[in-house]
Amino acid sequence: MPFLELKQDLATSLSKVIAHPDWDAAAVFKSLEVPPNPELGHFAFPCFRLAKILKKSPPEIAKTLMSGLDKGVDAAVAGPYLNFKFSGQMIFQKTLAAVAKDPEHFGADKTGAGKKVVIEFCSPNIAKRLMFQHIRSILLGNSLSNVYAYLGFNVTRMNFVGDWGTQFAKLLVAIELWGEKAKLDPKDSVMAMAHLLDLYVKFHKEATADESLEKKASQTLQLLEKKEPKATALWKMIRDISLNTVEATLKRMNTKFDVVEGESQYIDSIETTLEEVKKKADAKISDGALIIELEGISTPALVQKKDGTTLYLTRDVAAAADRKARYHFDKSIYVVGDQQRLHFQQLFGVLKKMGYPWTAECEHVGFGTVLFGQEKMSTREGRVIFLDDVLDEAYDRALKACTEKNPELANKETVARQVGLAAVVFGELSSTRQRDIEFDWDHIMALDGDTGPYVQYATVRTRSILSKANAPAKAAALHHLPANYNFAPEETALLLQLSSFRATLHSVINENEPFFLSRFLIQTAREFSRFYTNCPVLKAEGDTLTVRLQLVALTSQVLERGLTLLGVETPKEM
Ligand code: ARG
Repeated sequence: MPFLELKQDLATSLSKVIAHPDWDAAAVFKSLEVPPNPELGHFAFPCFRLAKILKKSPPEIAKTLMSGLDKGVDAAVAGPYLNFKFSGQMIFQKTLAAVAKDPEHFGADKTGAGKKVVIEFCSPNIAKRLMFQHIRSILLGNSLSNVYAYLGFNVTRMNFVGDWGTQFAKLLVAIELWGEKAKLDPKDSVMAMAHLLDLYVKFHKEATADESLEKKASQTLQLLEKKEPKATALWKMIRDISLNTVEATLKRMNTKFDVVEGESQYIDSIETTLEEVKKKADAKISDGALIIELEGISTPALVQKKDGTTLYLTRDVAAAADRKARYHFDKSIYVVGDQQRLHFQQLFGVLKKMGYPWTAECEHVGFGTVLFGQEKMSTREGRVIFLDDVLDEAYDRALKACTEKNPELANKETVARQVGLAAVVFGELSSTRQRDIEFDWDHIMALDGDTGPYVQYATVRTRSILSKANAPAKAAALHHLPANYNFAPEETALLLQLSSFRATLHSVINENEPFFLSRFLIQTAREFSRFYTNCPVLKAEGDTLTVRLQLVALTSQVLERGLTLLGVETPKEM
């Protein structure tokens, strides 16, 4: 979306000329389009709808509107459209003003001041290491958290782990039967986790032949729910070991949480929750289980099983209310895959039926699956890809690529870590979140595609130009517009691109869609490269040099900030 402020100004002046109650500035703003070809202009106003009101043909209206506009606006009639073009001077001045407001935080504003957002993401079922399929929640949640925080929201990043339920009970049974103490050493959590995975797989294999195993697991779950000391101690040990490995992997992805909470927190109060659910949401016994019928959702919500054990959904009901009570959120976001869409419909349905007005502040931010090769992964069958292994491979590939390209490169290991992660991040965030995507190494690592390394490379380039010119890279990048400077089209295009940074960040939070930012950064890198090819910087002189260096500095600032918001670092060199 091109420059928000210019578009707003334009809508205001156009609305004054139209002077009709149905066409206030907001209405005009909404109907402004972007012409298919930038040569035509930056915005187009279609006059069809006005034709009915004013009883004139659209081209006539376009002409009338144009004659009413201020002289400063560059407008042209094109059939039923009125097209608008901004000059480089004008965009520069606007951008200059925006930079001056807060040089360190270009693109930010105070939208979120005083508002609290809880963003829950990652949220693995533990007793496992992080798997490849956790990647999307982590990257979406991390970047959303960063953008919300940049726009002034008070953000709580929460990892809400699945540390309860049948899978733990099964593991406890498996440890009892086949566990090897030496392999469950809390000091070597990677080894311990590998052993736990073997045990989990073995449990499922044996359980196909031996029905008593499932029964044992169900009894063990009841023991756990009653806080039986031995089972509880073992559960706690598994939980601690798992969380250690989870934290180590997250660190590699530049991701930190403010709080790590878990489903187990809601076991003690579950009776109270069930009482409330019965009272407020009209829960009924059906076939021995407790269910709630929900309007508009064909599958009733199951809140208690026949055997009396609690359920994922019930714990989420308790957790949601507790989250509101403790964090006083204005918005509560759950970044969880679309396979759980029904779960969240039911969760919000139950909360609404219980009469909680804040249900409207809760949102499920879903996403599609990531396919890695053709095979479907399954923890039960031991077909898994660890997230750490994917990060390792990204590192190896980046190291190889960097070494080939630049054998002299200093700090190769650091650069490879940064570039490898950028490839993975852009690979995940360069599609809208609800699309299924295919993970493809060659595609995401390419230096000349829509990739993280490509954007990093452009950023490194901006910095090297600035350092060669001895120009400051950062604050107040834009500070001086020489009088009567004649902008080249590539300069204007780059400016317009840079100036839409703020609008981009707003789209990210309006739709909880970090894709807007990754696409923006790729486009910015492309615009920069077009500019750089056509407008020499270091060889320029006088006003031209002044303007171009400022453009490079602002590009550098925007790219670097944007990358940081996605959780990506910029290498010093590459
Ligand atoms: N632990 C769950 C799983 O791996 C996801 C939890 C999502 N968050 C929630 N509040 N239900 O399937």
